Amino acid sequence: MGAASTQLTVVAPAKINLHLEVLGLRPDGFHELAMVMQSLDLADLLRIRPHADGAVELRCDHADLSVGNDNLILRAARVLRDWAARQGFAQLPGAVLELDKRIPIGAGLAGGSSDAAATLIGLRHFWQLPCDDAELHQLASGLGSDVPFCLEGGTRLCFGRGERLEAPEGVLEPPGFGVLLIKHPEVQVSTPWAYGRCREHRGDFYLSSESDFEQRRQALRQGALLAALRAERPLPPLRNDLQAVVEPEVACVATGLRLLRSADGVLGAAMSGSGPSLFALFATPAAAAAALDQVGEAVAAAGFEAWCCRCEASGGRLLPHGGQAEGVSE
Ligand code: C5P
Repeated sequence: MGAASTQLTVVAPAKINLHLEVLGLRPDGFHELAMVMQSLDLADLLRIRPHADGAVELRCDHADLSVGNDNLILRAARVLRDWAARQGFAQLPGAVLELDKRIPIGAGLAGGSSDAAATLIGLRHFWQLPCDDAELHQLASGLGSDVPFCLEGGTRLCFGRGERLEAPEGVLEPPGFGVLLIKHPEVQVSTPWAYGRCREHRGDFYLSSESDFEQRRQALRQGALLAALRAERPLPPLRNDLQAVVEPEVACVATGLRLLRSADGVLGAAMSGSGPSLFALFATPAAAAAALDQVGEAVAAAGFEAWCCRCEASGGRLLPHGGQAEGVSE
């Protein structure tokens, strides 16, 4: 089996949570969730090219990122190699994986999960493996709760521990919002810590039966947020149950939300995932850019980095012609 091309590039988009509802605790120790996730055009780039000695090697010059075997990219490569070995593909060509890291780390934007999804997509192509999308989804869900969404991307309802994806009915993708995203570069939040705090605070009120979970899923499918995404009504207040536990303990969350909410034309603002990144939605990308002009100085003075983003209709994807083509600004 030979490599498919001398070089290829995979785009790995960040996500935000338009809705994150913690329903209860599952027998496997994970939380049962009801979420709406949205891909953004803020993305890492993963370049793949042949490696002379048959190894899979990760290169990334980001100071905060390990390029060792604990990195989710190398774990994804290993999982795909193991899958290939089970199918009888013993000798796979080596690959150099070069990560251009643009999504902030430890931010609740699924940067690591999206890199893992991009690795599965990229190496499946590079190694020309007959692994269908359902099998790839299966491998993705073993790597992390958000990795299946990062494979598919766009606007999705995400249930279970996050890996059960549903395309929302009647929603035109991608939504036309402009997104102003901010993150304090020195603050990271550990996802297990945030869920642990949530359990301490709210565990007594967790739902536990499948019929209760399904009722909440149905409420989300038929609720005001989905109606807003179908352009039937204005955006309701955004909900993130982890925000309620992270905000009192991570000072930059309250500061950042206050700044975002002070911008003209803001439709809603919330934390993404387990934080501490924060986002505000505007009717158009131009309105988000105007908001950044308005509050940018105060945002920078409070120590935040800021990005103006658009919503994306897909998750990880191969760039045509090995990545030399237009489509992604370097
Ligand atoms: O699946 P992932 O590796 O992203 O999860 C990281 C941690 O976040 C888990 O070990 C768990 O502590 C917490 N988590 C959870 N319920 C979920 C997803 C994540 O409790 N649905």
